[in-house]
Amino acid sequence: MRDFHSQYQDWLNLIEKALPDLFPQTPASEGGAVVEAARYSLLAGGKRVRPVLALAVADMLGIKTDRAMPYAGAIEMIHTYSLIHDDLPCMDDDDWRRGRKTCHIVYGEALAVLAGDALLNRAYELLFEAIDTRQPASREAALLIAAAAGSQGMIGGQALDLTAEKKKISDKEMRQLHMMKTGALLKAPVMAMVKLADIKADSQIAFERFAAAIGLAFQIQDDILDVVSDREQMGKTTGKDERDSKSTYVSLYGLDGARRQLNQAIALAYDYLGQLQERDGLDSTFLSGLTDYLLHREK
Ligand code: IPE
Ligand code: IPE
Ligand code: MG
Ligand code: MG
Ligand code: MG
Repeated sequence: MRDFHSQYQDWLNLIEKALPDLFPQTPASEGGAVVEAARYSLLAGGKRVRPVLALAVADMLGIKTDRAMPYAGAIEMIHTYSLIHDDLPCMDDDDWRRGRKTCHIVYGEALAVLAGDALLNRAYELLFEAIDTRQPASREAALLIAAAAGSQGMIGGQALDLTAEKKKISDKEMRQLHMMKTGALLKAPVMAMVKLADIKADSQIAFERFAAAIGLAFQIQDDILDVVSDREQMGKTTGKDERDSKSTYVSLYGLDGARRQLNQAIALAYDYLGQLQERDGLDSTFLSGLTDYLLHREK
């Protein structure tokens, strides 16, 4: 196995190479303006954690990268659309994303809304194309991603996030909100590949719990970074959760409390990776590296 950072970079390169072709530019007369706005946000870099997770789990389970890529690309498109809409004035009202001015600042609100919609629809085209009627798992994987994006997943979580502004919510509500708005789209690449691979039930459960743990950890870290980091480092505005009186792990538990919860989630993730490695004989070296990266990431 290559070292973590080289392996991450290899998968990142494959994703960066694939995305422009998965969402190609079209002529102005064929809706090119909305495509340009969508590509402006999609091709602006970003860590690509979700598609990397898909390719990593696929590799771990013997699924070819070519088979995993449409799912990985679809998830990154859904994620990017969620960011474009999250930044709109009617939501978090942010001017910076991925080191650039946000989509609506550059292209206007109406086109930014449509760019998000276009990314979501293209994602579904890719998922439909990936369905092979001779392999029912290909449909289940697509369905799982669609559900993670919807009202029981990311969209539902975003709605909870908005209603939790200027309110004190319970521990349970806080966790639910984070698991839905962010956890769902981090779980999706892992579980979609697990579906394709058809592994034993115990391993599926360990993957699911691992993915839930890193999904939660990811948003706790995002809440912490919003307080301790800056725009230069993050490529997006910081300090905005307090400005908007958002309910976050930091607002509820304080910085130290949030860090403790982050460490707990990460420790759980390692436990499940241990099960996959020791009990199930699956090589979880890369996912361990990724878990460590999520704990220490600075952007
Ligand atoms: C930002 O996601 C929004 C959250 C869910 C916290 P990322 O931190 O993955 O953003 P990019 O894709 O790297 O820009
Ligand atoms: C957003 O959470 C999660 C989604 C986009 C679904 P945040 O609102 O905290 O994300 P950032 O901080 O703007 O990236
Ligand atoms: Mg938000
Ligand atoms: Mg936001
Ligand atoms: Mg945030």
